[in-house]
Amino acid sequence: MRSVVCGVGGYLPERIVTNDELAKTVDTSDEWIQQRTGIRERRVAAKDETTVDLAHKAAEAALSNAGMTAQDIDLIIIATTTPDLTFPAAATLLQNRMGIHHGIALDIQAVCSGFVYGVATADSYLKNNLGTCALVIGAETFSRILDWQDRTTCVLFGDGAGAMVLKAVPEAEAEGRGVLANRLRADGEHWDKLYVDGGPSTTGTAGYVRMQGREVFRHAVGMISDVVEGAFADSGFTVDDLDWFVPHQANRRIIDGVGKKLNLPAEKVVVTVDRHANTSAASVPLALSEAVGDGRIKRGDLVMLEAMGGGFTWGASLIRW
Ligand code: UT7
Repeated sequence: MRSVVCGVGGYLPERIVTNDELAKTVDTSDEWIQQRTGIRERRVAAKDETTVDLAHKAAEAALSNAGMTAQDIDLIIIATTTPDLTFPAAATLLQNRMGIHHGIALDIQAVCSGFVYGVATADSYLKNNLGTCALVIGAETFSRILDWQDRTTCVLFGDGAGAMVLKAVPEAEAEGRGVLANRLRADGEHWDKLYVDGGPSTTGTAGYVRMQGREVFRHAVGMISDVVEGAFADSGFTVDDLDWFVPHQANRRIIDGVGKKLNLPAEKVVVTVDRHANTSAASVPLALSEAVGDGRIKRGDLVMLEAMGGGFTWGASLIRW
């Protein structure tokens, strides 16, 4: 079987927070943020808007793009670090909202790499007959776990959700389309370079993001390039065959560094970090839904997804659209 992409969709909360607005509350500037990260603004969820609310809107957009209904879905995976509740999984809350009473629903916790982990997990489930049609979602309200007094983290993140519908199709009918290769990695040695200082079993609170930004940056380009090259090697394709590179949107300088290392022409790289900032697990599917929505990514295109984040976790997926 092949896991073929049938549709994608995204949702961003209405409220836009600019760099200048942040500079009113912490010691930072639009110039510093743009120079060091490429971020101009980010979205922040309304007080009563939760991760599942965002996920639901993205899921409906993806189903509509796929021409499918909720009842077609028998596997829901939400990649999130900011679930509505400690349990049950956000995916089960979404399943209930969507009126789905069959199939499987689970969350994945791989922070910014969560969506790529989700695609690889759904691909494995579909290939092993554990479902026929999957909704893979990255959804975050990262604003809830930011220390808004800490300028080294609060300027970097945003809220949002993106979703993808993957359907199991017999290889003979897939016309070469579908998920072609996945590379996933983790190395917990780096856990304290990017983490949250709380949790149910320690402080009993959700905690706030803590990051040694320079340390994360130092590892990012090498780790990402490694899994991207691995996914190319596994599939037999090369960077010259690629139509679109859809990277995790953490920092424009990391995206450019990876592009340079892989010899990727800049016009093949989808960039949203300027307007979305780092939306963690939502960043890749949001970028995908933008590039599909405006007609850049088309059926038959070869598309590479990649992400790296807390853990560290990192991964890449190569997909024939
Ligand atoms: O998905 C993975 C998630 N995270 C990432 O990918 C983040 C990876 N890291 C980064 O993107 C970058 O390391 C940052 C954007 C976080 C920081 O950029 P940098 O070029 O590595 O800066 P830095 O941490 O070396 O800080 C340079 C200076 C410091 O001042 P001193 O010590 O040189 O006097 C910081 O205190 O910039 C200062 N600084 C700020 N200044 C104005 C840190 N944050 C800010 C700020 N505004 N918001």
